[in-house]
Amino acid sequence: MTPAATATATATTAADASDLTATDPLGDPSSHRVLTGDRPTGPLHLGHYFGTLRNRVRLQDQGVEMFVLVADYQVITDRDIADRLAEHTENLVLDYLAAGLDPERATIFAHSAVPALNQLLLPFLSLVSVAELSRNPTVKDEIAHSSQAAVNGLMFTYPVHQAADILFCKADLVPVGQDQLPHLEVARTVARRFNERYPHADGRAVFPRPRALLSDAPMLPGTDGGKMSKSRGNAVALGADEDTTARIIRGAKTDADRRITYDPSARPEVSGLVLLAALCQERDPEAVAEEIGDGGAAALKRTVIESVNEHFRPLRARRAELATDRGHLRQVLRDGAERANAIADATLAEVREVMGAI
Ligand code: TRP
Repeated sequence: MTPAATATATATTAADASDLTATDPLGDPSSHRVLTGDRPTGPLHLGHYFGTLRNRVRLQDQGVEMFVLVADYQVITDRDIADRLAEHTENLVLDYLAAGLDPERATIFAHSAVPALNQLLLPFLSLVSVAELSRNPTVKDEIAHSSQAAVNGLMFTYPVHQAADILFCKADLVPVGQDQLPHLEVARTVARRFNERYPHADGRAVFPRPRALLSDAPMLPGTDGGKMSKSRGNAVALGADEDTTARIIRGAKTDADRRITYDPSARPEVSGLVLLAALCQERDPEAVAEEIGDGGAAALKRTVIESVNEHFRPLRARRAELATDRGHLRQVLRDGAERANAIADATLAEVREVMGAI
């Protein structure tokens, strides 16, 4: 699929009426439990940061209970081997901590370290039809971009596994990007069907109905105008140094029109760069484009490079410092797994009870 087709495929899944955006009022922060996560396939990039990472930190700082998942089993959906898994996992934790997630307040864990979470996959899979699994637009998109010769079974079932990620801790809010909305729909379907089929004796439902918490930032495209992705080589990593940042942005695609404007549908490449500078400067993209005016692509890129490097300097300094203590990163994961296991064990016991397994 071309990048343009990708955008269409993901955009066709509309937000559920109950989904929230980052600017919607949350009410009492302590009434929510938030879970979100990332695949440990490489460093997080600026799209992750503006799309979800900074919202997670905002939620944490508001006092919402946070679970942040390193989705290590999800890595083997579209590749045969989870390459350098431990290293990527630690680096993901590093990105989290550098961005401001605080392991004292947020539970950071890898789902392979939580057996009871994974066991929920079995009853959950029985609640979803094969036809539903094969219709998932995000899965279809990933299959189109996969380098594997054959599509494996996990590729079709991982959205149900993701439902287990969300439901094991009974999260009600899931901060995600637009492309994850089909998976949220799966989680809601699983929760609803499970509750209908297996209510508690007193009628109580086991699982809440999880809602997406969508970023208020417009989707940040990669340096080629397509979806920003570590695997597509069009992303600036959060922890990239200033020279690397400059090199990647200098190599970004632009167009022949010297006048810089913000027009995402007609000029995706130029608009992506304008948007990136605007997000870093906390200004409207129109104002940033206006200021560059007839300066052309060279002036635009200079502005973007400066804005990114300036905005991320403190985060990158913190990241470099944290990177010197790998033992601490592993300890964060151990502590997180301990908390997540206690919750997953309790949920699995409840699931087995309502199913009549004990
Ligand atoms: N699928 C998500 C991604 O690729 C990662 C993920 C796994 C996730 N489990 C999750 C996100 C649960 C939110 C909730 O980015």
